[in-house]
Amino acid sequence: MKIVIPGGTGQVGTVLDRALTAAGHEVVVLTRQPRREREVAWDGETPGAWTQQIDGSDVVINLAGRSVSCRYTEANLRAMMDSRVRSTRVVGEAIEAAVRPPRVWLQMSTATVYAHRFDAPNDEATGVIGGEEPGVPDYWAYSVEIARNWELAQRQTGTPHTRKVALRSAMVMSPDRGGVFDVLSWLARLGLGGPVAGGAQYVSWIHDRDFVRAVEFLIDRDDIEGPVNLAAPGPLPQRAFMRALRSAWRVPAGLPATKWMAEIGAFALRSDTELLFKSRRVVPGRLLEAGFAFDHAEWPGAADDLVRRLRDGRATGGRALRRRLPALPRSLQRRA
Ligand SMILES: NC(=O)c1ccc[n+]([C@@H]2O[C@H](COP(=O)([O-])OP(=O)(O)OC[C@H]3O[C@@H](n4cnc5c(N)ncnc54)[C@H](OP(=O)(O)O)[C@@H]3O)[C@@H](O)[C@H]2O)c1
Repeated sequence: MKIVIPGGTGQVGTVLDRALTAAGHEVVVLTRQPRREREVAWDGETPGAWTQQIDGSDVVINLAGRSVSCRYTEANLRAMMDSRVRSTRVVGEAIEAAVRPPRVWLQMSTATVYAHRFDAPNDEATGVIGGEEPGVPDYWAYSVEIARNWELAQRQTGTPHTRKVALRSAMVMSPDRGGVFDVLSWLARLGLGGPVAGGAQYVSWIHDRDFVRAVEFLIDRDDIEGPVNLAAPGPLPQRAFMRALRSAWRVPAGLPATKWMAEIGAFALRSDTELLFKSRRVVPGRLLEAGFAFDHAEWPGAADDLVRRLRDGRATGGRALRRRLPALPRSLQRRA
């Protein structure tokens, strides 16, 4: 198949490009700064020569969007919103205008669309969409708003010959340098991987190979459209999540961090505490119902596998990841 991946130079794009190319597909990445073969220029906002790549392709997987790994200032939140909504709209316009439109359009969304909650898991049918949780910072509602508008931009596009799926993905755990698993591993190995702010908040995650398998499954299954959760069936409290990661690295203890310590850490890493404090309890209702079987359903086994692969050191990380590295402290940069 010919598969076009707008925004495919980052962590998730690297994982998909690697796997789909190895499986024999022709993968084309749309990027604002093409550097390699198979990379084509676009600006994520306006139609251009790049639309010829979409016309005649089989699958489009749009991942474009300003990184969420930043301080949630007004300007950054606005950039996160605009880059996602505009790129989704213009991808939709290209599909709409295509003489031979792709069979399926997988549009990245996020598990962050669901409410901050502890009591029950969120699946697609019964899950609670966030934005009105009491006692959380007001700006958390904006992340939910971004996700809703992102999905709306896809839904509003008229593509009668193209099936549309929104990927409500949890954190994709891959052994790539500079990715979220690498950073969490570093914290664990430095002895800092303890509970944060009590550690009761849930962490949803998906192993990179299951992520790729789920994407392939959704490409094949003509009967599935709309939002689909891409998360392992076993989300777990942050405390247990970090304990399993420490155990995979054979690190006996992890320093707990209070809320204010985490605030300082997030500030130093130019990241935001919403990423640490929000309870993301998301499960893959539709995938399981459709018969998808996870290879890595539970975190301890997945963490062992990722540690082994990270140690082997084969994955290199995406270009967008390497660009983000200066945001990490020197010790992490050296490691990355
Ligand atoms: N990583 C995860 O675990 C995860 C989980 C759930 C959802 N997501 C979502 O999935 C998508 C891909 O994730 P990722 O981790 O691979 O992200 P990433 O590393 O930040 O890559 C996203 C890509 O979007 C492009 N981009 C950035 N700003 C843009 C803009 N203003 N206009 C157009 N394109 C822009 C960049 O490509 P160029 O600079 O080459 O143009 C970049 O490579 C993101 O939208 C993210 O929010 C990720």
